[in-house]
Amino acid sequence: MGDNLPSEDGARDTLTVIDNRTGRSYEIPIVEGAVRAMAFRAIKAYEGDFGLEVYDPGFANTASCRSAITRIDGERGILEYRGYPIEQLAEHSTFLETAYLLIWGELPTQAQLDEWTNDVRMHTYVHENIKKFMEGFNYDAHPMGMVVGTVGALSTFYPDAKNVMDPQSRYIQTVRLIAKMPTIAAFSYRHNRGLPYVYPDNALTYTGNFLSMLWKMSEPRYEVNPVLERAIEVLWILHADHEQNCSTNAMRSVGSSHVDPYSATAAAAAALYGPLHGGANEAVIRMLQEIGDKRNVPQFIKRVKQGEDLLWGFGHRVYKSYDPRARIIKRTADEVFEVTGRNPLLEIALELERIALEDEYFVERRLYPNVDFYSGIIYQALGFPVGMFPVLFAIPRTAGWLAQWREMLNDPEQKIARPRQIYVGPGRRDYVPIDQRR
Ligand code: CMC
Repeated sequence: MGDNLPSEDGARDTLTVIDNRTGRSYEIPIVEGAVRAMAFRAIKAYEGDFGLEVYDPGFANTASCRSAITRIDGERGILEYRGYPIEQLAEHSTFLETAYLLIWGELPTQAQLDEWTNDVRMHTYVHENIKKFMEGFNYDAHPMGMVVGTVGALSTFYPDAKNVMDPQSRYIQTVRLIAKMPTIAAFSYRHNRGLPYVYPDNALTYTGNFLSMLWKMSEPRYEVNPVLERAIEVLWILHADHEQNCSTNAMRSVGSSHVDPYSATAAAAAALYGPLHGGANEAVIRMLQEIGDKRNVPQFIKRVKQGEDLLWGFGHRVYKSYDPRARIIKRTADEVFEVTGRNPLLEIALELERIALEDEYFVERRLYPNVDFYSGIIYQALGFPVGMFPVLFAIPRTAGWLAQWREMLNDPEQKIARPRQIYVGPGRRDYVPIDQRR
């Protein structure tokens, strides 16, 4: 592939385009299943023509990069990090090991994992002024708004972070971000509850420490429930990366200006805040509460089919079959409910899934449960308010964002992200003084 030589049956890895405006024909190479958008620039209708652009709102069919991190096969419901199936990672790995894999490309040896874990552990504390900064938020500030603002503020504490082309600097900022995200997230939760912030306990695991910072009260050491600790671990492995989604695209796009990674991560977190992305599991809980009872499910489905509502937690831009993460989360939910008791909303969710999967509307459009359909139910059973849901997504996704950011910086083909537009506004016109305007 790539040299465009004819194969034995005469087929070539090229695309022939005939411009009917001029009758000219162009042969465009097809490499790795794609054509270069820049190849179309050579297609011009007249002398001085800028050349053809490609128009793709929402990047629905545009590859913005070549990446070796995460592979999704949406048709077959496959998700792999660096080639490892998500099911195997969810079963055998830990979040920190998965983060290492995403960032460095290989599973660590024991010595590498120990060093990595220790480095992260050494950076869980935040500067006291960050704590004060967070205390300044209003008592009812949305925790995700607090996280977005605070992560951005970190850049002012680490001016060395602007040396984005220095591998040493990149390493330390990567460690700091992964280490401090749970601390900032837990502080935002405590703030919302009017509780004093709890400092990290570095004798605990990454997820165990997070639970301690959330729920520790007056006991000398928080006792972590291993089932809940593992459940969070699994949820975070599943959420660690998902190739070029909205927030990752924000990370790469903002990072392409060579701004420091705290500012870029704040931008990515802001993208994740939106209801169509990281906020969907909150919408799922609101939907289930609104439905209220299993018996109301058919009525709700009818409304969705009439276009009056969305079935939140269903459908995906890439997956056109069952989201593999949803399948694992459904299993994890059962384990969590054994500790917390069953979330009554589960019954409604199961009924919704059952009816939707049989219904022609959803079957035809290939709409299946996505990762958010069950994650909110687990988070709610664990006692999290819905405002914390995107925060719980942002912690693990930080590993993915950083892996993608590093890959982008190391890719010689990448440039500052700067899309083109098709201008559809008025033609040139002269300024009209205000007293002459109608
Ligand atoms: N409920 C009802 N109809 C739907 C839904 C849904 N959840 N999702 C898509 N459709 C319909 C849509 O109306 C369209 O119908 P028609 O062809 O008649 O116009 C058809 O299915 C195709 O949908 P689309 O909007 O073209 O698909 P998209 O790829 O642009 O949107 C999506 C993907 C995830 C934004 C969308 O499915 C959606 O809004 N789902 C609900 C929100 C949600 O659960 N988001 C979480 C996504 S997973 C987490 C993440 O990765 O961030």
